[in-house]
Amino acid sequence: MKKKIKVAVLFGGRSGEHEVSIVSANSIFRALNKDKYDVHLIGIDKLGRWTSVSSERFLAHSSNPRGLDLGASSNTQWPVAFPSEISMIDIDTKSSEQKFDVVFPVLHGTYGEDGTLQGLLELSQIPYVGSGVLGSAVGMDKDVSRRLLHLAGIPVVPTRCYRHHQFQKDPDSILKEIADDLGYPYFVKPANMGSSVGVAKVKSLSEARQKVTDAFAYDTKILVEKGVDARELEVSVLGNYFPKASIVGEIIPTHEFYSYEAKYLDENGAHLKIPAEDLTPEMRTRITELAIKAFQALECCGLARVDFFLDRKTNELYLNEINTMPGFTNISMYPKLWEASGLNYSELLDQLIELALERHAERSQLKTSL
Ligand SMILES: Nc1ncnc2c1ncn2[C@@H]1O[C@H](COP(=O)(O)OP(=O)(O)O)[C@@H](O)[C@H]1O
Ligand SMILES: [Mg+2]
Repeated sequence: MKKKIKVAVLFGGRSGEHEVSIVSANSIFRALNKDKYDVHLIGIDKLGRWTSVSSERFLAHSSNPRGLDLGASSNTQWPVAFPSEISMIDIDTKSSEQKFDVVFPVLHGTYGEDGTLQGLLELSQIPYVGSGVLGSAVGMDKDVSRRLLHLAGIPVVPTRCYRHHQFQKDPDSILKEIADDLGYPYFVKPANMGSSVGVAKVKSLSEARQKVTDAFAYDTKILVEKGVDARELEVSVLGNYFPKASIVGEIIPTHEFYSYEAKYLDENGAHLKIPAEDLTPEMRTRITELAIKAFQALECCGLARVDFFLDRKTNELYLNEINTMPGFTNISMYPKLWEASGLNYSELLDQLIELALERHAERSQLKTSL
C-alpha cells in the first residue's frame, strides 16, 4: 500500500480572522481524502501558542469556532524558533521520524498569511500550501501590492499612502490634501489587514479625522482611496508557474459596502453570485487575464483569490486586492468558484498539496552556495 502523505493542518492564529480560519479548517479536514492523507490538526490560539488537537475534539467543536478552546490544553507550546524542532512539531508523538510531508496553513491575515509563518516553514524545510514568504508578504501589504500592480500595467483605484508619524505631525493639512486629491467619498484602510477591519467610507471632513485615526489603530501605514460605486467581482487562481483562473463570481453586499459586519456578523450581509451575471465575454476574459497577470506580478504560488471593482458608471475595471489564503469554508467564494468551474472541493485540496510538494521539490534542487 502506498504510504499516506502526512499533512499538518494549521488553523486559528493571531489575527482578526481566527474564527473564520477554524471554520475553513473544519471544511478542509472533512474533505481531505483520508485514504491518501494522514491528517494532523494543529491549532494556534490568539496568543500564538500551538497545540495539537485530536480529530474527535476538533470535529465536535470546530463548526462553532467559539466552542473550540485552543488555549487550555496541557500540550500547548510556543512556536519553536528552532528549525529542526519545528519539523517535529507533532506533539502527540515524540519521534523525530514524525516529520510532516506538507503543512496546510489555513490561516488568514497577520502571522499566517503575511509571510511570517511561511518564513518559519522555509527554515524548517517543510513543503507548505500557498505562496512563499515574498508572495505572502506582498499580497498582504495593500500599498506594496498596489505599486507592483501599477508597474505591471494593471489598473488600480487612485490611492495615497500615509504613515502614522506623518499624519500625527500635521493631520489637518493631510486631511485637506486627501479631500482635494480624491474628493468624497473616499475609503480609508490599514495597509496590512483583512476582513474589512479598520476599513471605513469617509463622506465628509467632519468624520475624516476619526476614521483615519481609527485605521491607524491597526497599522502604522494606511491607504486612502477614491470611493468607487462598483460591482465587486472575484476570481480564483490556482497553480505555480502556469496558473489558471476560475470563472468570475460576484459579491453583492446588502450593506453600504462589504464591511466586517456584512462579512461576519450579518447572515444576510452579502450574496454570492456564481457566475457573475451581466458581463460581456470580453470583460470576463479581461478579468481572468488580469487575475493571472496579478498572481504572477505579485509572486504568488499555489492559490489566490483576486478581487476586482467594476465601476457601475464608467465600466472601468480596477484590481482591488489579492488574498493569498482566501476563506476556505465549503461555502466560501474561492472553492465555490472552482466547483462551478468543474473542480470539486476535495480535488482542489489534492491539487494544492501537489503544488506545494512540486514547489518544494524544485526549490530543494537549488544551490545555496558556489
Ligand atoms: N476604493 C473603494 N471604493 C469602493 N469600495 C471600497 C473601496 N475600497 C474598499 N471598499 C469596500 O470595502 C471592502 C473591504 O476593502 P478591501 O480593500 O477589500 O479590504 P479587506 O482586505 O479588508 O477585504 C471592499 O470589499 C469594498 O466593499
Ligand atoms: Mg477585500
